[in-house]
Amino acid sequence: MIQARIVGTGSYAPKKVVTNHDLEKLIETSDEWIIERTGIKERRVAEKHEATSDLAYEASIKALKAAGLHASDLDLILVATLTPDVAMPNTACILQHKLNAKKAGALDINAACSGFIYGLSVASALIKAGTAENILLVGAEVLSRFVDWQDRTTCVLFGDGAGAAVLQRHAGKRGILSTHLHADGSLADLLHIEAGGSRLPSTHETVDGRMHYVKMRGNETFKVAVRALEDVVQEALEFNKIKPEEIDLLVPHQANLRIIQAMAKRLNMPMEKVVVTIQKYGNTSAASIPMALDEAVRDGRIKEHNMILLEAFGGGLTWASALIRW
Ligand code: ACO
Repeated sequence: MIQARIVGTGSYAPKKVVTNHDLEKLIETSDEWIIERTGIKERRVAEKHEATSDLAYEASIKALKAAGLHASDLDLILVATLTPDVAMPNTACILQHKLNAKKAGALDINAACSGFIYGLSVASALIKAGTAENILLVGAEVLSRFVDWQDRTTCVLFGDGAGAAVLQRHAGKRGILSTHLHADGSLADLLHIEAGGSRLPSTHETVDGRMHYVKMRGNETFKVAVRALEDVVQEALEFNKIKPEEIDLLVPHQANLRIIQAMAKRLNMPMEKVVVTIQKYGNTSAASIPMALDEAVRDGRIKEHNMILLEAFGGGLTWASALIRW
């Protein structure tokens, strides 16, 4: 059996820490409100000179080292992001140049917070089809440039970071066992950036109207998220014919601690079996799962042959799951 196996992970968080108390000085909010509603205590913010590809590069170097591979071994680079360096070239091409990955193709994936799992699905399919042997998949975001620091309903939620995984062709039973991808574009308005694309190009009016920032109807998004995640997790369990107690670790997208706890409860899993990083990084969108994954690999929570469940929900709307035999 040919599988796509994750053979190395890496992550990078910018050094600058912005605490809830720092935000209290900027907007009408409180540390208590943010912790109680989201679980977030602080988040990282990229320095002025850092763009998404710079964060992606740092995470990629670590993942390649962990995999024991050189950039020249890569057949493809996938970058999941909603905050690319520029509209063109894609961030994967910029990363390909930084890494000097001469033979690698380069492609961005935008599925907001579900981007990393969408990327896993693409990478796994290409490896199984024999199209590629080694693929670097990165989730990287500099959301601090796309949040409105005057809007307390969004700016407290997001942070910057990057996580990377190297996937490799593997003859055996370990690897990505399944991915399930979903979308509902009719609910795009719940979470979107209005301007800056072909529909509404950048003008003085769009800038003055603060239309280049993430807008979210949080409460409505929350309700859809919990329902969609319950369904996609159930789908993964049924497809793989496994029971929740067979899952060793849940690595969820880090959007809200209450959503994470609801999913753990649904799976009857103690929180010790759930990787939580939201308190220190906030929601880093496509980067949140690979950052959490890397942390759990490095601190020994993920061991060989463990059954790992990933789930994510984000703008689009999109949602997805992946089951991995590590
Ligand atoms: N500080 C203090 N008060 C605030 C803040 C803040 N930072 N933000 C909002 N409030 C106020 C609101 O104005 C509102 O006041 P009102 O009752 O007087 O109108 C009150 O707090 C409650 O607001 P809600 O939006 O109802 O609060 P809720 O409990 O829903 O929490 C949150 C908001 C944290 C955004 C939550 O809804 C959430 O996590 N939603 C889901 C997010 C998600 O999963 N997104 C998808 C992934 S992100 C991506 O793809 C990029």
